[in-house]
Amino acid sequence: MSLQDQVAKRRTFAIISHPDAGKTTITEKLLLYGNLIQSAGTVKGKKSGKHATSDWMEMEKERGISVTTSVMQFPYKDATVNLLDTPGHADFSEDTYRTLTAVDSALMVIDAAKGVEQRTVKLMEVCRLRDTPILTFINKLDRDVRDGIDVLDEIEDVLNIECAPITWPIGMGKSFKGVYNLLTDTTVLYKTGQGHTVQDVREVKGLDNPELDQAVGADYAEELRETLELVQGASHEFDLERFLAGKLTPVFFGTALGNFGVDHMLDGLVKWAPPPQPRDATARTVVADEPKMTGFVFKIQANMDPRHRDRIAFMRICSGKYQKGIKLKQVRTGKDVRIPDALTFLAGERDNVEEAFSGDIIGLHNHGTIQIGDTFTEGEELAFTGIPHFAPELFQRVVLNDPLKSKQLHKGLTQLAEEGATQVFFPLRNNDVILGAVGTLQFDVVAARLKGEYGVDCRYEPVSVATARWIEAGSDKELTAFERKAHDNLSRDGAGHLTYLAPTRVNLQLAQERHPEIRFRETREIS
Ligand code: G4P
Repeated sequence: MSLQDQVAKRRTFAIISHPDAGKTTITEKLLLYGNLIQSAGTVKGKKSGKHATSDWMEMEKERGISVTTSVMQFPYKDATVNLLDTPGHADFSEDTYRTLTAVDSALMVIDAAKGVEQRTVKLMEVCRLRDTPILTFINKLDRDVRDGIDVLDEIEDVLNIECAPITWPIGMGKSFKGVYNLLTDTTVLYKTGQGHTVQDVREVKGLDNPELDQAVGADYAEELRETLELVQGASHEFDLERFLAGKLTPVFFGTALGNFGVDHMLDGLVKWAPPPQPRDATARTVVADEPKMTGFVFKIQANMDPRHRDRIAFMRICSGKYQKGIKLKQVRTGKDVRIPDALTFLAGERDNVEEAFSGDIIGLHNHGTIQIGDTFTEGEELAFTGIPHFAPELFQRVVLNDPLKSKQLHKGLTQLAEEGATQVFFPLRNNDVILGAVGTLQFDVVAARLKGEYGVDCRYEPVSVATARWIEAGSDKELTAFERKAHDNLSRDGAGHLTYLAPTRVNLQLAQERHPEIRFRETREIS
């Protein structure tokens, strides 16, 4: 198959959702559709407090199947689908945000009882940085949930994206009957007790078909007809261009637990979601079906299992094809490296595979030489842009248990920050060392790695920082003036960039009002 055909059939996406909305359950059903497992059961045990594992690692343990953490590739219809994990619970980290810079589309999962929740808002903001096309799955219709129109209104208002319902639910909770597909004018009927397997579904064509009244009950059929009139008036029609521009989201209803509706979403994904997209780089824009391979590293997985010291750098291939043994240039260092043993993730097997294509993710063994944001090429001097650091949301002061280890601490933290495991800030006004993260587990990882790899024993103390912003000014003069005025709140991050550490959100707001000449940035490009 030609490179063009390989690229055209790839769909690389991630799931964005608030914890407990159903991401893990949906992932499991996707495994079912990808034929990676034959039967799905509830994933138990992930809340057992062993927070050093991701949901997927738990699945691997629980199900005894080889689901690799982080990336899962599976065939569906004519497509090759790459699903990238976005850890949701304790192992949520900045990597989660950066993973969203490595996908071409995203699936937003909403709990139909809860509507739009805070983590989803944040993840959606990250998707907006690249106008990533979003599909929406409204989950848990087998429970008593909110009215569909109400939830769509909330998505439109809070997330500022137009909703185009593709399916519409009939009933809910114990009387959930199925969904009506607005595009195909077909009702798909729900059967309970089929969640562990791919369902044989019964379909009824036509909204006015008397068979529909028989199948779901005359009241429900009538209510559906009435509601649809309202829905069609109040929502948007599906428009491929607006979807691809990130302005409109096709919406599907269902229950992941009951394995109903997930396939409708997957059908939409392979049909409408874009294949690997062009990527901006310093020198030029790189197109996915160019013959030469390029890629960038968006995540480094720190393995906390002491028996596996090896860390894996995850690279998104942006053009061309990986072949076992390929020689690539690591652009930042200028070094050529031969890659004999990249991990690819075909069919969930973590295996050394011979080739991978644009849109795929490969795992490189990393012994500390690879950093987040690194570009690899077959020799060309270019670096991918748009792989940012995100302003941390949690902060801790690092306290050394052995004060003589201060030098090692600085070295370790600077390296861990370069690698993307955490962010580090050195306030201008004192000798504190402040760590920033977006997920609490990042702090544990850093403490464990400082001890294991740098021989530094440290603990954390609370610090009064609510949020951080990178500072930019139009001129050096403005910057110096601001540095003087805001000295007590300023720090340098691991890469030396000036950063404002705000003790409260109100403080940040006031600083922004007082200094309109200064840009307070929530992201910083990796350089
Ligand atoms: P997450 O990865 O997004 O955090 O969510 P996860 O899939 O773990 O789902 C969170 C909880 O919601 C789980 O229950 C799961 O069984 C349940 N759930 C997911 N999809 C549906 C659905 O369509 N309908 C219903 N009724 N529940 C759903 P839990 O309390 O963590 O576990 P358990 O007590 O059910 O075992």
